[in-house]
Formats: sequence, structure tokens, C-alpha cells
Amino acid sequence: MVAVDGPSGSGKSTVSRRLATALDARYLDTGAMYRAVTWGVIRAGVPLSDPAAVAAVVAGLSLEIGTDPSAPFVRVDGVSVDGPIRGAEVTAHVSAVASVAAVRQQLVAQQRAIIADAGRIVVEGRDIGTVVAPDASLKVYLTASAEARAQRRSLENAADVAATQADLARRDKIDSSRAVDPLTQAEDAVVLDTTAMGIDEAVARLRELLDT
Ligand code: CDP
Repeated sequence: MVAVDGPSGSGKSTVSRRLATALDARYLDTGAMYRAVTWGVIRAGVPLSDPAAVAAVVAGLSLEIGTDPSAPFVRVDGVSVDGPIRGAEVTAHVSAVASVAAVRQQLVAQQRAIIADAGRIVVEGRDIGTVVAPDASLKVYLTASAEARAQRRSLENAADVAATQADLARRDKIDSSRAVDPLTQAEDAVVLDTTAMGIDEAVARLRELLDT
């Protein structure tokens, strides 16, 4: 099992999916799970500032996520939410929902069950090497400069670079300072700075690490 953690725009998703395909392994995007339950909380209309109400909604959701790297999907109560979970509204609120301890407990349990069933799998997120799977055979912490991360994300979303950089900084701050399972580097993680590194090079580097 390979754990890939890191902040937004570090290249995590692309690198993890490509690595899973190359290894003929499964792939789990835990960020998509936090985004999907956030979509469910918004749909329910409860105040996002009320952790108990948020946790109660999330406890009642049925969340399904695919693990085939060539055909990712996520469904909430049977509804496909792949498009909406990447939208501005979910992105604005996901870090608040992901800060609720009961929400994390529920999703971490589901992630561990998926990992236990999967055999070989590449799992990406913020707390995989530290909380979800501390026994991963390889832990990677992908990072890149704030400018490079904003540049990449704004290209993906056709959005303004400065606004994107501000939004990433806002989310990074919430993700790294929350009371439960904050984004941190596992002590035994290999750090890969992708600021000046292409996707192919990053994937090749990880394959080398797995072979050694
Ligand atoms: O936008 P980006 O692809 O970087 O984020 P994501 O991987 O889709 O994750 C969205 C949000 O979910 C993060 O900003 C975190 O608040 C939360 N998250 C988390 O708390 N723990 C994880 N293992 C994965 C995501």
C-alpha cells in the first residue's frame, strides 16, 4: 500500500492515479470522499458552523467510491456527484466539514475497510501516512511552492491565479491547524518537491522508491 499525502495542487491526484495504473493497483481519492459528504451536508441545508448537525447528516449518508484508477466515481445516496464535488461551493466548505471529528472517524473507518479489501492500492489524502494507514509500505509527501500549486490549480479550473492562491492558502491553513488529524508530514515519509518536476518524473521517482 502506498500513501500519498500533501497540500492542494502538489500533484497528488495525477501522480497517485498514474502510479496506481502503472502498478496495476487500485486507487483511492480520500479528498473526493470529504468533498462528497460536504455536498451531502450542503444539500441537507444544515448550518456548516454546527459540527453536531454536520456529523448527524454525514452519519446518515450512503457514500460509494470507485477504486479503479481508470474510472473514478463517487456517489452519495445513489446520486453521482463527480461534477458538483469539484465546484466552488463544495471547495469553499470542504475544509470546515473535514474538521469535524465524527466526520473524520466515519470516513477513516470506511477508508480502512476499502484498503483492507483492496490488495495493492495507492491512497491519497492529507492524513493517510499518519492516521489512516501508518503501516503503509511507502509513504510519500508531495509538495510544491505555493506559486506552482496555484498555477496548476488555476489552469485546471480556468480560474484567476491570485484568487486560487488565496483559496489554497485558506484551505491549507484550516487543514494544517485543525484539532483532529491535521495535515502533517509523517516522520518516515519521503518528501518529493514537484515544483520543478513533471508528472512523469514524479511517477518514475516513486516507482524507483518502490523497487528499492
Ligand atoms: O483540492 P485538492 O485536490 O487539493 O483537495 P482534495 O484532495 O480534493 O481534498 C479536499 C479537502 O478535503 C482538503 O482541503 C481537506 O480539507 C479534506 N481532506 C482531509 O481532510 N483529509 C483527507 N485525507 C483528504 C482530504
